Amino acid sequence: MSQRPKVVVTRQLIDEAQKLLEADTDLDIVQWTSDQPCDRTWLLEHAKGASGILLMLSDTCDEELISTSGDQLKVIASFSVGTDHVDREALRKRKIRLGYTPTCLTDAVADLTVMLILMAQRRAGEAMGKVIQGQWPQMPWSPLLMTGPQIGGSTVGFLGFGRIGQATLKRLLPFGISRVLYLTSKPGQPVKEDHFGIIKDASIPIEPAKDWEQLASESDVVIVGCALTPDTKHLVGTEFFSNMKKFAVLVNIARGPVVDTDALITALDKEQIFGAGLDVIENEPNIQADHPILRQPRCVLVPHIGSATIATRVQMATETVQNLLAGLKGEAMVNEVEL
Ligand code: DGY
Repeated sequence: MSQRPKVVVTRQLIDEAQKLLEADTDLDIVQWTSDQPCDRTWLLEHAKGASGILLMLSDTCDEELISTSGDQLKVIASFSVGTDHVDREALRKRKIRLGYTPTCLTDAVADLTVMLILMAQRRAGEAMGKVIQGQWPQMPWSPLLMTGPQIGGSTVGFLGFGRIGQATLKRLLPFGISRVLYLTSKPGQPVKEDHFGIIKDASIPIEPAKDWEQLASESDVVIVGCALTPDTKHLVGTEFFSNMKKFAVLVNIARGPVVDTDALITALDKEQIFGAGLDVIENEPNIQADHPILRQPRCVLVPHIGSATIATRVQMATETVQNLLAGLKGEAMVNEVEL
């Protein structure tokens, strides 16, 4: 049996990161060398005896995986900012470190958030769908053809207001939005970190909402950017939608289950809200062509591509390998979750 520490890696990595990993010749690397999600049975089988595991957000890191790995397990390095696929408590009690990538994907996800707001407000999915189906509107011009709400003048409500929310705000300010409300896990309280120095300098009101009801009822754009926890699961549901404005749009770039999909479909059917832009949805990736959300003309859905720029994915992969190596050596990680 090899004396070198074993690391399990659940995906073929982008070249730069793969080279960085392989440059460490002291490691016994066991890798799922496919571009498809790692098979759970394979992972459990190979995790036995591992000192480190590099995994994706599509891999569940739970008691079963951790205890199967054994007492020598030192580090989990997740290729993601979200860590809802990881049982933090199970890691904390065994003093296993957790690395993640919260900083390098901020810009890419904030860019996509702005894209989804504009697509939802300006009916981009519906408009493009018509053109693709050969249904280019036949009237030469019509004052109300394909009209939607305007981003300038909007009150923007952030459910969760960390780095990605604040980077989104930075991009929205030049559009002329008029007010910001935000809700964090400490309702009514000012945010702890002004990551880009925009909160104190902005010329529009940026206020903590006292509760989700205020945020839902006063926002023209609601951006879901909070972590998925037992408290936030289905936070945006029937009641939330019934509080929202008729011309408001909902954007979810966080995790699917924060939004109750059935309630969203009902809200769109009843025209309780104007539209939605989703990067994530409950039960992804199992979304088939007959999913009822796909029959909603005012809902734009993209397949969890928030961080999918080439530069960002290279950086995420590199930092994840760095976190893995640092965790094995007991050194500082690029970013470590405080467990
Ligand atoms: C993550 O890394 O958690 C994000 O969902 C990527 O978009």
